[in-house]
Amino acid sequence: MSVKTLVTSALPYANGPLHLGHAVEYVQTDILVRFLRSAGRDVLYVCADDTHGTPIELSAAKDGIPPEQYVASFWEQHRRDFQDLGIGLDAFYTTHSPENRAYAELIYGRLKEAGDIARRSVEQTYCEVDQRFLPDRFVRGTCPNCKSPDQYGDVCEVCGKTYSPADLIDPRCVLCGTPPVRRSSEHLFFRLSAHQAFLQELIRAPGFLHPAVANQLQAFFDQGLNDWDISRDGPYFGFPIPGETNKYFYVWLDAPIGYIATTEKWAKDSGRAASALAYWAEDADAEIIHVIGKDIVYFHALFWPAVLKVAHLKRPSRLVVHGHLTVDGTKMSKSRGTFITARTYLDALDPAYLRYFFASNLGPNPEDFDLSLTEFRQRVNGELVNNVCNLANRVLSLLAVPLGQRLAPAAAGPGQVLVEEALRKATEVRAAYEKIDFRTAVRGATEISQSANQFLQARAPWAKVKSEPEVARRDLSDAAEVAYLVAGLLQPVVPTVADKLFAQLQAPPLTFARLKGAAYPLLDRQKPIGTPAPLLPRMEETQVKSLIVPAAAASAPAAAPASAAPPPEGAAPGTLSPEDFAKVALRVGLVRAAERVPKADKLLKLTVDVGEAEPRTIAAGIAEAYAPEAVVGRRVVVVANLAPRTIRGILSQGMLLAAGPGGAALRLVDPGDLPPGSEVR
Ligand code: MSP
Ligand code: ZN
Repeated sequence: MSVKTLVTSALPYANGPLHLGHAVEYVQTDILVRFLRSAGRDVLYVCADDTHGTPIELSAAKDGIPPEQYVASFWEQHRRDFQDLGIGLDAFYTTHSPENRAYAELIYGRLKEAGDIARRSVEQTYCEVDQRFLPDRFVRGTCPNCKSPDQYGDVCEVCGKTYSPADLIDPRCVLCGTPPVRRSSEHLFFRLSAHQAFLQELIRAPGFLHPAVANQLQAFFDQGLNDWDISRDGPYFGFPIPGETNKYFYVWLDAPIGYIATTEKWAKDSGRAASALAYWAEDADAEIIHVIGKDIVYFHALFWPAVLKVAHLKRPSRLVVHGHLTVDGTKMSKSRGTFITARTYLDALDPAYLRYFFASNLGPNPEDFDLSLTEFRQRVNGELVNNVCNLANRVLSLLAVPLGQRLAPAAAGPGQVLVEEALRKATEVRAAYEKIDFRTAVRGATEISQSANQFLQARAPWAKVKSEPEVARRDLSDAAEVAYLVAGLLQPVVPTVADKLFAQLQAPPLTFARLKGAAYPLLDRQKPIGTPAPLLPRMEETQVKSLIVPAAAASAPAAAPASAAPPPEGAAPGTLSPEDFAKVALRVGLVRAAERVPKADKLLKLTVDVGEAEPRTIAAGIAEAYAPEAVVGRRVVVVANLAPRTIRGILSQGMLLAAGPGGAALRLVDPGDLPPGSEVR
């Protein structure tokens, strides 16, 4: 059993900070890797930033920097986040790398050679103003499924339906706002449909995928697999397709190839393998495990294994799929402040708390789970701090000063029974780790710790240090064995805490490899222990509360301030008479030009046609939500009879109606396709 194991986490997009949802996956993978290593297996753990595709290209354009520079800044940030979360990656690389390009070309060449690339003409949206095709997110319009306005070209954020940009109702180019035309373009397709039988068998292979997830995939097979469009027309931030003009690999083609490229980078940098093929060659003596979220199963269970098979490379032997994290019961939200970045967390709290909480919620099924902040604090304080860490600290403190840091010789008695029972239970903990059922593993470890606490409660060694020091020493030494064992069992989850205890005991790290067949006593009783110190403080409520940072509302108002006129007789305070409301002149406007305002991050200076002889100048606090290019050509609703006001030196002649909490989540009210000047009532 000398097989090497390669474990990966899904590559985060280089398009934003890591958040606690990402952390679920990276912590889960890291625990798995640490467990496998503790059990003596040869494990390599790699990840990278996923850098290509239109959302990243657009974000970079919005910031006015080249995409290469944009993704490089996130790479640095992500690398630090991984490190500070205690994720023990062997390599963290990027898909925008020469290695990835080389492997993408190699794999594509093999797909082509095998006759698995088809060329088909497809209808695409094309902007005649910008003279370019508009892939995915370069078009916005009304969702063809649920009719929600202002949706992306590839997926509706309201109903979740995916479609092609050409399906959008009332589409507009996000760059210039004009409606695109349809133009046909030749695209390259990977013949996924030819591999249906192979894939159907693969997803049912023992141990490959959780049966519940395999069942969900069944629906795709029942409909029949569609071939997969792997090309995009340029300009596109990605790798050019060899032998084609102005065609690029779709981001999801080269993203998983990033796993191989990062293995290659590791091999070269460490000198520990000749190339990535030590793991990825079809006949390599290795197994590959991908840890992924439930949202990207389709890519990893269908496209990726089929591509690898045709390219004669090693297929993953297992996909570990986790559910999604919610915070305080709902999807993480910037406006509610529950969009907690890894950095916000790390600034406030020790990663050990989070790692423990995630582990105690991650079972073998891909279930969603919630980070309820109250439960988080209570559970971690109750189980990890009070039960596990305090056991160790109590025992070591009593052994230290009053008993001269010396352990008792091993001896038969209730203490030995306690340790042997704990060792028996430790095999269940190990079995749970093997099943990637961390929740059960953590529960087992805390129960073992609890048993030692009860033992101490019953034996009360603190009352005997003076009167019967050797009895106390014996009981405390046996309890120390259990603390040592628990630290070994929880080491994959909270490595820093476990390592501290090993150091305080002056004992070697207790690994699962050492535990196999281990017997009482685990500790070298001849050796003195070191100096005890608290392992982990309690989590304070104020620290937990500081995780929630609601997004500040935009400082420049986007909508009209309330009128100062007194409410009419009999009206409830704050209500407006219909007459009052009629005084507000709302008009459809067409944004002709837009620019950023120097030193005002939230403001855009707009030129808006409201059907008058001259367009108006309006300063709008929408810059966090819209790039200037994204509003030009849009129709908006303007408060047209507002007294002009100077904002940051700009004489603003009106205001725009917008909805939402502000910041990036702000949305302009869309009046549809009515001509400028139309009355809004
Ligand atoms: N770039 C792709 C993956 C390419 S892998 C070849 C991607 N990136 S992502 O940044 O959107 O997500 C990275 C991983 O984090 C995914 O596995 C995703 O499921 C996971 N999570 C993102 N948000 C999450 C939660 N709220 N909860 C749990 N996991 C989440 O997808
Ligand atoms: Zn355009």
